[in-house]
Amino acid sequence: MLEKNPVIFIILAFLVIMVGTTVTMIVPFKWINGPGDLIAGVKPYTPLQQEGRDIYMREGCNNCHSQTVRTLAADVERYGYGGTYSKSGEFVYDRPFLWGSRRTGPDLAHIGLKFPDPMGAWHRKHLENPQSVVPASNMPSYAFLNQPLDTTYTERKMKLLKFPYTQGDLDEVKGKTEMDAIVAYMRKLGTDIPIKKAEAATQPTGNLKNPYSDLKGVKAEALSLFAKDCAVCHGENRQGNIGPSLRGSAKSDAELFAIISNGRGGMPSFGSSLDEQKIWKMVTLIKLGKHDD
Ligand code: HEC
Ligand code: HEC
Repeated sequence: MLEKNPVIFIILAFLVIMVGTTVTMIVPFKWINGPGDLIAGVKPYTPLQQEGRDIYMREGCNNCHSQTVRTLAADVERYGYGGTYSKSGEFVYDRPFLWGSRRTGPDLAHIGLKFPDPMGAWHRKHLENPQSVVPASNMPSYAFLNQPLDTTYTERKMKLLKFPYTQGDLDEVKGKTEMDAIVAYMRKLGTDIPIKKAEAATQPTGNLKNPYSDLKGVKAEALSLFAKDCAVCHGENRQGNIGPSLRGSAKSDAELFAIISNGRGGMPSFGSSLDEQKIWKMVTLIKLGKHDD
């Protein structure tokens, strides 16, 4: 029979595999990566961000970090930071792609949304000594990036990639450190696409009222939420660190609620990751003064 003839068998097997390959890998090019996938907000990298990206590759950060939020709900919840899953249009300026295949550390596709601080204070602290902000981290220290950035090829890189730049952009790169560059890159990731702010419930309206006036019943949960989401920036005992002290705030409950859910300056928004009840519990905790706990 046919399968006993090796030559015919090889030819038929080859044809079958080619049909599969054509259908799954070649035909889809007809309808992917078209103009419909372009995302207007996505901008090319600035010279400083591009240098940061090159350092990211040089240091092999991509061996431990992926840069793509998969379409799975769990992925979006964990790494979307208020955005959604990664779209092909987000990567049009990435050469090469840094999607990665391993997640020893968290996905970084939207990391700019998680730490919006314009000075990148969290990133600096973390890169210099990861264990100082995440005690159990096994990420190596990159304190040595506090060295002058080599800008010899910056202009050539921008030309080669056909990214727009101005003399002003190039002057800005001068005198910067490698740390500045990689922090600029981290801060850009994921921020080009406007994210939907959490639902109307998180907008401060006149009648927002904290349902938890008494801390007793909520303290344990509030403390564990705080340790998980807030302590890295506000200190383990709310004494303040990258963010201000959160002991006995004089702000109104509604104001605190709005800041936590919408974010402000270097303070990320938690409206999409914490539900309303949890945010109110945090507010109740924050109102506590130095001597109450
Ligand atoms: C050996 C693996 C490894 C390497 C290499 C590595 N990281 Fe990490 N990274 C981790 C782990 C694990 C975490 C989670 C713990 C933490 O936050 O420190 C992490 C966390 C992070 C975070 C915080 C993510 C979040 O969602 O909180 C950032 C940002 C980051 N790394 C950037 C970098 C950059 C930039 C480089 C290269 C200069 C790098 N990492 C190299 C393992 C690594
Ligand atoms: C990445 C660091 C970071 C994390 C994580 C963080 N914060 Fe903040 N937070 C800040 C910074 C920075 C500010 C100052 C913002 C500003 O006004 O520019 C701030 C400000 C605040 C304020 C306003 C304080 C005031 O008196 O003005 C509140 C309230 C607050 N944070 C609560 C929280 C809570 C609750 C969490 C955890 C759910 C949290 N923060 C997590 C960095 C952070």
